[in-house]
Amino acid sequence: MSPIDVEEDTAVISAHWREESYIRPAAQFIAQANLTDPGVFERFSEKNFPECFREYGAMLDWDQPWHTMLDSSNPPFFKWFVGGKLNACHNCVDRNLQKHRNKTAFYFVPEPEGEPVVSLTYQQLHRRVNEMAAMLREFCGLKRGDRVTLHLPMTLELPVTMLACARLGVIHSQVFSGFSASACAHRIADSGSRVLITMDAYYRGGKLLDHKRKADTTALESDKTGVKVEKVLVWRRRPGEYHSEAPMVAGRDFFVDEALAGCKRREVAPEIMDANDTLFLMYTSGTTGKPKAAQHSTGGYLAYVAGTSKYIEDLHPEDVYWCMADIGWITGHSYIVYGPLAVAATSVIYEGVPNFPDAGRPWRIAEALGVNIFHTSPTAIRALRRAGSDIPLQYNYHFKHMTTVGEPIEPSTWRWYWEVIGKREAVIVDTWWQTETGGHLCSTVPGIHLMKPGANGPGLPGIYPTIYDENGHELPPGSHTAGNICIRNPWPGRMLTIWGDDERFVKTYYARYSKPGSKDWRDWPYFAGDGALRAEDGYIRILGRIDDVINVAGHRLGTKELEAACLTVPEVAEAAVVPVPDDIKGALPEVYASLHPGVAAGEALAEKICSAIVEQIGAIARPRGIWLVPDLPKTRSGKIMRRVLTAISCGHDAGDVTTLANPEIVEELRALVRNKTAGGR
Ligand code: PRX
Repeated sequence: MSPIDVEEDTAVISAHWREESYIRPAAQFIAQANLTDPGVFERFSEKNFPECFREYGAMLDWDQPWHTMLDSSNPPFFKWFVGGKLNACHNCVDRNLQKHRNKTAFYFVPEPEGEPVVSLTYQQLHRRVNEMAAMLREFCGLKRGDRVTLHLPMTLELPVTMLACARLGVIHSQVFSGFSASACAHRIADSGSRVLITMDAYYRGGKLLDHKRKADTTALESDKTGVKVEKVLVWRRRPGEYHSEAPMVAGRDFFVDEALAGCKRREVAPEIMDANDTLFLMYTSGTTGKPKAAQHSTGGYLAYVAGTSKYIEDLHPEDVYWCMADIGWITGHSYIVYGPLAVAATSVIYEGVPNFPDAGRPWRIAEALGVNIFHTSPTAIRALRRAGSDIPLQYNYHFKHMTTVGEPIEPSTWRWYWEVIGKREAVIVDTWWQTETGGHLCSTVPGIHLMKPGANGPGLPGIYPTIYDENGHELPPGSHTAGNICIRNPWPGRMLTIWGDDERFVKTYYARYSKPGSKDWRDWPYFAGDGALRAEDGYIRILGRIDDVINVAGHRLGTKELEAACLTVPEVAEAAVVPVPDDIKGALPEVYASLHPGVAAGEALAEKICSAIVEQIGAIARPRGIWLVPDLPKTRSGKIMRRVLTAISCGHDAGDVTTLANPEIVEELRALVRNKTAGGR
């Protein structure tokens, strides 16, 4: 069977979208699916809202039942399962001991292929989490409500640490391990963490990377902001060995394995938390300034990720599920750790890059462990496709279900995923959601709906999406006009607020289309910041961000953050960052920087700007190009016209530029970019 080879890019699709034909999920999948009753949409319809979410709440163990499903008396600060008390760690670990004690909770697959896979049973997870919780409480003095920053790679120690925090009611804030020391320091300072938990080193791309060295800069930078890191706990990738050049700082740095020695066989009773107590913080980029933390609840969040893991990911306790995302992103929190454990699944954690040592690695892992549910991003799918269609066919694995998430997927890539990776056997869900939303919002329900390549699907049960035009008028399904997607109702997985910034929370997600003063949740649609289309069948297709956020390989980077990093280079006078389409990663940032008078452009300076970005944000933000230019296109009021720069980078028509204060610059920049001159790279 040959894959369909038409190349399309997302920009083209958004402009000329044609309807794709439906594909029916395999009967074998439907026969075993957790949710096949279309009546679920009636049960979760507006007339049964919000009580419909009782079904999700009932998936958890509660120490005290809730008395009010939804408290909407202070919009948009909605509270779910009010009065309910529970512990997330108990729900993910302890309660599974009864039926699944000796079942694998996690498989850890180290990147070096010679290193054995570790299988951690629920019993072993319970033991490790308890010991870690005892250590955090006694050695670090951590208690409910405290924040702790984790800067951990993809190893078992990450979920063990998260769950230990959850057991104590300590709020964890995991920072993606690929982020730089500075990015981590900002998150420590913003969250007010006194403890940083890191690891000495981890494998990536065949190398053992020194990770602890970042912790030293992180602590220094955080101290400067007035938030002192009192303890740095260092897990060792190989207990007893230390693989970092950075010395351990006496009195501040401690090896976790040594600190744990005094906590062997300790048990810690799970802290009984209110449903609306904070479980964790997850930082994400927005339109302005520094990344902000989405503050997620204990009860609503856990109920929502349990429900969607069961119905949308279709996880059963007997499945082996592999989500290739990093736990450092929301996808990993919701759909590697909390959701799967809450439904007693077996989840795979892979340490390294998918194509190490070759593009057959994912399929060897799938074959060896019997993975039958697979979850990844369009970027990874595009990269696997580039490696060749013959590779997956060499391996004897069988997926019943696959997910795509994080960015729009072109229909051609979708079809390749379905035909080649899924062998036409696996149903695909294209789940649209965000860091802020906790769990999926729009997707097909795999046991109910037909699939349509490139379209996400309708709102999930209990999620009522709508698309508004600029003036707040609803664009009806099938209107072939893109608008701003909003969710008309609150739902349990939504973040409580932005950590420490209620005002920004209201402004970013609710100012646009809400009625201030109204106490009715119907007047408070959630504004997601994505452009979208809705077809006649109600299927949503997300076109991408409408704000200044660049989605690189499914990860959000704020243009303002990137620009601020450029401006730390003293030679740079002004900087503008724009997204340019990329065949594999969807989009990449490109930098336009003008220099102070007398400063000469050159390769070395471009390199300096690139290093500033990588150091301050992380390698994920490395720009595709840096153009050192005489000036930037501006409006008469001095606003930089990023739209014009995007057009120049993409070789598109910049449209009418006569209203610019400096229209002549457009041709000049076009020539520079075309000829790759002026310090461009
Ligand atoms: O633009 C949408 C895109 O990713 C953004 C959310 O990014 P983040 O908060 O990092 O969460 C990623 C994991 C959920 C959204 O605003 N996005 C996410 N999923 C999809 C998507 N775009 C199209 N299709 C998707 N399935």
